[in-house]
Amino acid sequence: MQKDYFSQEVNRRGTLSVKWNPKTIQGIAATGEAEPFWVADMDFLAPPEVIETAVATARSGVYGYPHVDTKEQLFCSWAKKRHNWIVDPKRVVTCSGMLTSIALLTEMLTKKGDGVMVPVPAYQPFLRIVRNLERTLVAWPLLYDEESHRFSLDWDKFAELCKQAKLLIFCSPHNPSGLVFSEEDLTKLTRIAKEHGVVIISDEIHADLSFKAHHSLLPIAQAQGCTAVTCMAPSKTFNIAGEHYSVAIFADRKLQTQFERRLEQLFLTENSFFSTTIALSAYEKGEPWLEELLVYLQQNISLMETFFRKNLPSLSFIKPGASFIAFIDCSKIIALVEQDALANPQLYDSKNSPNGGLLSRFFGLRAEVALNDGTWFGGEQYRSFVRFNFGTQSQHIEQALIRMQKAIQFLEETYSR
Ligand SMILES: Cc1ncc(COP(=O)(O)O)c(C=O)c1O
Repeated sequence: MQKDYFSQEVNRRGTLSVKWNPKTIQGIAATGEAEPFWVADMDFLAPPEVIETAVATARSGVYGYPHVDTKEQLFCSWAKKRHNWIVDPKRVVTCSGMLTSIALLTEMLTKKGDGVMVPVPAYQPFLRIVRNLERTLVAWPLLYDEESHRFSLDWDKFAELCKQAKLLIFCSPHNPSGLVFSEEDLTKLTRIAKEHGVVIISDEIHADLSFKAHHSLLPIAQAQGCTAVTCMAPSKTFNIAGEHYSVAIFADRKLQTQFERRLEQLFLTENSFFSTTIALSAYEKGEPWLEELLVYLQQNISLMETFFRKNLPSLSFIKPGASFIAFIDCSKIIALVEQDALANPQLYDSKNSPNGGLLSRFFGLRAEVALNDGTWFGGEQYRSFVRFNFGTQSQHIEQALIRMQKAIQFLEETYSR
């Protein structure tokens, strides 16, 4: 692989990318001109071996129904190699997008009105799944320490909320806090869940991008006698999320059979030709690329940490333990942003950016940087946060941070007494 593989420019403007579409950017940032650092896909080319496979497949010119005997085994080899997790291929079910599996499992495991617990802040579609299926959301707020700017699990609250819930949708590593959970955390979590008869769906889509050891929840749950399903995917890992390929791993055979039956009822058992080809070639050949990606992402984190410390002391960068997204605490500037919005109601009009919030509009309008607003992750209580996607070339991050610094200078000069 070329040395500068991750820093080379990749022009995604005018492609099918949702992240780079001016209308979708406008929807959160109040201007379509803002540079996108939002939706969780990266601006890097996929592993060269995957691109070669995709090109060769495209050239073959025949795109019929696919069938690959070894696809479960390929995932199991990956799980063993990356996470030292020995999985029986018979316990692996291949699905399309992970959200489809999580929604189906939620539908199967609960009835209308049942409590479904979700740690918040949350990847918003989890909240939508609960709402769409007319279940009752049991929000489990993470603790947030305003001094150290760290999130953590609130164990007392968990035990209390388990009484109201049948199911927990857990996210490990956690989006958006970037928390990577220890074996002790997962042991405690599954022990308490088991005590209360709460089943766990563990979304481990960001697991391969962890900077320290990731512990799969399923074997730990099994040891505790807790019913759980783990969902994993090559999508975030190899930047192939548009291809919608994931796996669900079961310990409970009855539950697995029930899930497979539901997939059959809905004719959801087949993945597309391209997603299969691309996902499997990534698992087979993408590991060297992933190793280099992890180095590059950690360099981006260092760059951001240093920049925030030196030049953006009024914002707090919450250093993630995994992946390419980070929460930023903007509570020190939010009062000034409110003044800017009051002075410019037409600019900040929510009708023009219905999917954004105060801060995403501010950074869009004043810095031309499109970020996910904290409210997207669970409502007004997260309004002083934004989520920054740093899965991009470091030169773009530097420029964006300089624009954010200037925007804050403008705020301070205009509205501070
Ligand atoms: C935690 C988490 N789960 C699921 C998804 C989406 O998964 P899929 O596209 O496979 O449905 C994302 C995408 O950002 C995510 O961050």
